[in-house]
Amino acid sequence: MYRHTYMRIDIDAMLKNIEYLAKINKKGVIPVIKANAYGTYDIYVAKVLREHGYGLLAVSSLDEALNLRLSGDRGDILILGYVKKDDFDLLKCYDLTVITFDYDIFDALDEKILNGLKVHLKVESGMHRLGVESDKLLKLDAYLRSKGAKVEGIMTHFACSDDPLGLNNDRQFATFKNTLAKIDHPFKYIHCANTDAAINYHDGLSNYIRIGLGMWGFSSFASGLKPAIAFYTSISHIQKVPKGEGVGYGLRYISDGKGYIAVLPVGYADGLWRSNSGRRVYINGKYCPLVGNLCMDQCFVKIDELWPLETEVEIFGEHLPLPRMAKELNTIPYEIITNIGNRVSRVFVDEKGEELFVYNERFKDNYGLKN
Ligand SMILES: Cc1ncc(COP(=O)(O)O)c(C=O)c1O
Repeated sequence: MYRHTYMRIDIDAMLKNIEYLAKINKKGVIPVIKANAYGTYDIYVAKVLREHGYGLLAVSSLDEALNLRLSGDRGDILILGYVKKDDFDLLKCYDLTVITFDYDIFDALDEKILNGLKVHLKVESGMHRLGVESDKLLKLDAYLRSKGAKVEGIMTHFACSDDPLGLNNDRQFATFKNTLAKIDHPFKYIHCANTDAAINYHDGLSNYIRIGLGMWGFSSFASGLKPAIAFYTSISHIQKVPKGEGVGYGLRYISDGKGYIAVLPVGYADGLWRSNSGRRVYINGKYCPLVGNLCMDQCFVKIDELWPLETEVEIFGEHLPLPRMAKELNTIPYEIITNIGNRVSRVFVDEKGEELFVYNERFKDNYGLKN
């Protein structure tokens, strides 16, 4: 890491968060590591999860699944998104599990492809994203099994799991339950809940939960989870800007001549969007405002006292919780963490803060250079 701008990922906190959710639900966990494990680094996260016995990991696409498989991962991988009909041969070739995201594609599949194909039935229960409606799904299930497919799981996904009243969950769950009641063969995996549902909506039917954001310690509900991701940079330059002088593109911030302007080596290409102007970062016990237009690679912060260069700056973390930042930016934590740029180093630490592994996309093949 040559540029001091990094995501700090507490892998022990991540493991504890999963264990906690498993315990309060008394269910197994399918960790969801799509979108580069929510912007962290999926290959390393998968390796740790496998070492801790998680047999089935979920990703969003065949690309993500193949990337994981080709990294050497040998466990089960569930693809939560669609797969093109012409690519189904790869599913078998790489032993990947697919969901029934659409009736017609599955109905039209070649018998050779179906034989041995691993499938989770996805019930369309109300979200109207991917999945097959009950009646059709029952037909499809019988067809798939008659052709030798391994129908190992059944699932659905809640559209409003963040609603404290959970009324829509009730409605969707009823559809799921009725569908399951009409199927007379056992499933290894029955799963409905994402993080919020795993905290706020406990159904008595499923045996697994699918956890993404909760791994990283966040939920819409108060929970026993511990935030496992933080984002830091440091001061690269400090100057006194005379009163009346402008700062940055468009000279949008006009100096009042008091204090100093510090430059930080992080910008919108790193996921710190221009809409952060006016928000605060945390430096040495003080909250300091980002001023002016944020640049692609750098931004400006107004500070009141001189600090040494390379003083660490928290963008979100212990003192600036990610959910609060998301609220201030009118978005959700998912959007912020999955948009942290790939040139930002990922520093994985244990619970004592000891560095375990550093990853930077830029240096993945440059052995000998620091990650
Ligand atoms: C089908 C499915 N299951 C589970 C998850 C995990 O959700 P969360 O990150 O809220 O736990 C997602 C994420 O969007 C999803 O699309």
